[in-house]
Amino acid sequence: MKRLILTVLLGLSVTAVLSAQGRRPDEPLPKWEGLAETPQMGWNSWNKFATNINEELIKATADKMVELGLVDAGYIYLNLDDGWHGERDERGFIHEDPVKFPSGIKALADYLHARGLKLGIYSDAGTNTCACYAGSLGHEYQDAYTYASWGVDYLKYDWCYTNNLNPKGAYTLMRSALRKAGRPILFSMCEWGSSKPWEWAADVGHSWRTTGDIGASFLPIPQTYDENGKPKWKALGVLEIVEMNERLREYAGPGHWNDPDMLEVGNGLTDSENRAHFTLWCMMAAPLILGNDLTSMSAETLSVITNKEVIAINQDPLGIQGLRLKKDGDLQYWFKPLSDGDWAFCLLNAGETEQEVGLNWEALEFKDKLSGRSPEFGKSNYRVQDLWAATRKPFTTRVRGRRRGQTVVNTVTVRVAPHDVVTYRLTPVADAAR
Ligand code: GLA
Repeated sequence: MKRLILTVLLGLSVTAVLSAQGRRPDEPLPKWEGLAETPQMGWNSWNKFATNINEELIKATADKMVELGLVDAGYIYLNLDDGWHGERDERGFIHEDPVKFPSGIKALADYLHARGLKLGIYSDAGTNTCACYAGSLGHEYQDAYTYASWGVDYLKYDWCYTNNLNPKGAYTLMRSALRKAGRPILFSMCEWGSSKPWEWAADVGHSWRTTGDIGASFLPIPQTYDENGKPKWKALGVLEIVEMNERLREYAGPGHWNDPDMLEVGNGLTDSENRAHFTLWCMMAAPLILGNDLTSMSAETLSVITNKEVIAINQDPLGIQGLRLKKDGDLQYWFKPLSDGDWAFCLLNAGETEQEVGLNWEALEFKDKLSGRSPEFGKSNYRVQDLWAATRKPFTTRVRGRRRGQTVVNTVTVRVAPHDVVTYRLTPVADAAR
């Protein structure tokens, strides 16, 4: 009898604990909510510096991010990629490389936090990182705890040396560990789209890579083969990545973004290509993670990455990834629904020669199934703001049609340089303003 009462009491108290916390003790913990409500913005060391990073470089980059107005423009994360690692100690705790980061990661986090920045760090779900430093496999909770105690705000979690690991299981484990560690840490998943994370990761990470690694090339990078005819690893050019990421728009939204990889703006692309690459990432609501050397950047590159109106397209609170409405030869027509009934429009010229294009808005009319909206060009008037006007040589648009002045008319003719974009913000204007 006593035993029965004890069992019942035990059962009741377990139920009480469960209902108080809403979950069983062995259930995974949820991801941190409220992070990356708009795509994350920042800088990452990999594209330019690979593993050649150190405290001095990171601090100089932080200082530049403040000095050049990048923090004010929204780039708040400064992320260390692969190569910050030292060894694990005898208890399994990871340490920074004492030569590269003599003051320690905690001191670096303090330095950044004092300047309005947040610190990102990098690890890997497998035994090793892609550059062969210690991975987090078997140390997930310990590493999450270490990062939290250092004041880390962002974790990019890679997928090298994972053998037979199940991606959903591995990323969910780290999600739980980050939650358990008690500090809100943005979780950026980097498994290159291999297991279609867009289908299962909306409540696991805040973003997931949709493709392999980007290279500093606008055009596709040719495939090469080894002596056995096996395709060699290759990076992807901007246009290749666009093809892969563009079709995943239905999966993106506030707190869970498609990540077509970090920016190569300023890493050797032409000014036109920089502008087009940056704009496409904004149209696709992609995380904007700079990857160039901020300490030696041209004025043109700076003007691209700090274009507030184009950034506003990316950071629009509606959080809908833009759609490519149509391709017409080398031309691509993109639209992105924005809050307040606005639309972003981008015309990309992916080809090698300048094009003169007649934009007939009414002929471009469409219904976006995802947002349920259509611009209704036949009925509505829009004010047109040319978002790259300041960086292009002036071109007088020829206007034909019914309405003139500030509002969109039926047809405008625009010139688009090779590998460049024309980008507009279209804002509906009330009838009275016609
Ligand atoms: C992978 C990732 C890259 C970078 C490197 C670091 O290739 O996809 O973004 O983090 O690893 O080794």
